[in-house]
Amino acid sequence: EPARDVRIVEVGPRDGLQNEKQLIPTATKLALIRRLAAAGLQDIEATSFVSPKWVPQMADHAEVMAGLPSQDEFPGVNYPVLTPNLKGFEAAMAAGAKEVAVFAAASEAFSQKNINCSIAESITRFEPILAAAQAAGMRVRGYISCVVGCPYEGAITPQVVADVAWRLRDLGCYEVSLGDTIGVGNPASVARMLEAVGARVPMAQLAGHYHDTYGMGAANVHASYQMGVRVFDSSVAGLGGCPYAKGATGNVATEDVVWLLHGLGVRTGVDLEALVDCGAWISAELGRLSGSRVARALLAR
Ligand code: HMG
Ligand code: MG
Repeated sequence: EPARDVRIVEVGPRDGLQNEKQLIPTATKLALIRRLAAAGLQDIEATSFVSPKWVPQMADHAEVMAGLPSQDEFPGVNYPVLTPNLKGFEAAMAAGAKEVAVFAAASEAFSQKNINCSIAESITRFEPILAAAQAAGMRVRGYISCVVGCPYEGAITPQVVADVAWRLRDLGCYEVSLGDTIGVGNPASVARMLEAVGARVPMAQLAGHYHDTYGMGAANVHASYQMGVRVFDSSVAGLGGCPYAKGATGNVATEDVVWLLHGLGVRTGVDLEALVDCGAWISAELGRLSGSRVARALLAR
C-alpha cells in the first residue's frame, strides 16, 4: 500500500450515480468500482441502502455488495455505504457492509426534503444505528449536508454546522464529512465554516465534501487543506448531484483533487493515469463529457 498524506474517499459510485435518470446496469457500477480500486482508491463509497422509491438508481444495493472485489484482489479497500435509518443499516449488514455512513443536514428544510424528518429526529434515528454498529465492531461515518448554503434556506450559519458535527461525533461517528451540497462555498465561506466546526470537533476527524457546481471545488479543497483537513470526498469525472438539490452538479472531480494535491507535493496513493482512464471510460458509458478539467487536459495532451 503506497504512503499517503491525504485520504481520498471516492464517492462516484454512490453520489456520482444516484441522480442518473437512466438505470445503470449493476455490472457497470461494479466495473467502475473495480477500476477505481485498481487506480489506488482505498475508500470507495459503493451504494446506499435508502428507499428505492426515493432513489431508484440505488435499488440494486444488495447486488452491488455481492459483486464487490474480494479483499485478496484489492487488500485493505473499504466500501462504505449510506444508511439513513435502522432498516437501511440492517439491510446493509445483511448484504455484507463493513462500514456505513449516516447523513444529516445543517438545514431543517433540506433535512425534510432529503430524509423526511427534522435534524433532531435524524439524530434520534441514528442512535440505534451507532449502537448496532458498535456492537458489530463497525465504523460509522457521519455526513452533514448544506454546510455553507441550502437550496431552500439560503446561507447557513457556521455555528449550526458545528452543533450538528458535534452531535454526530458525540454519537460515535469516527469522522464527519462536511457537505457543500450545492457547491456555493468559496475559500472564505468554507474557512469560516471550518473555523466554527474545528472549534468543536478536531480537524483530524473532519472531511471536506465539496460539490463543484460553481467551479470552486478544488479551491475549497485547497483552503481546507491549508487549515488542516486531510480527508476529501470526490467523484471520478466529477459525476453526480443530489436528487434533493435541484441544479446542483457533481462532486469535485477526483482527478482534479489528485492533480492539485500531487502538485502541492502531497501524496494520495492514487495513480492519476489509471484514474483518468477510469473517468474517460465511465464518461463514455454515460455518454457525456468528463466534468474534470484535469482529465480533459491530460487526454488532449
Ligand atoms: P420515509 O418515507 O419517511 O420512511 O422515508 P418510512 O420510515 O415512513 O417508511 C416508508 C416506506 O419506506 C416503508 O415501505 C419502509 O419500509 C420503506 P412501505 O411500507 O411503504 O412499502 N423504507 C425503506 N426502504 C428501503 N430502505 C430503507 C427504508 N426505510 C424505509 N432504508 C427515508 C425515509 C430516509 C427512507 C427516505 O427519505 C429516503 O430513502 N431518503 C434517501 C434520500 C437520499 O438517498 N438522498 C441522497 C443521499 S444524501 C446526499 O447525497 C448528500 C451527501 O452526498 C452529502 C452532501 O453532498 O451534502 C451525503
Ligand atoms: Mg454529496
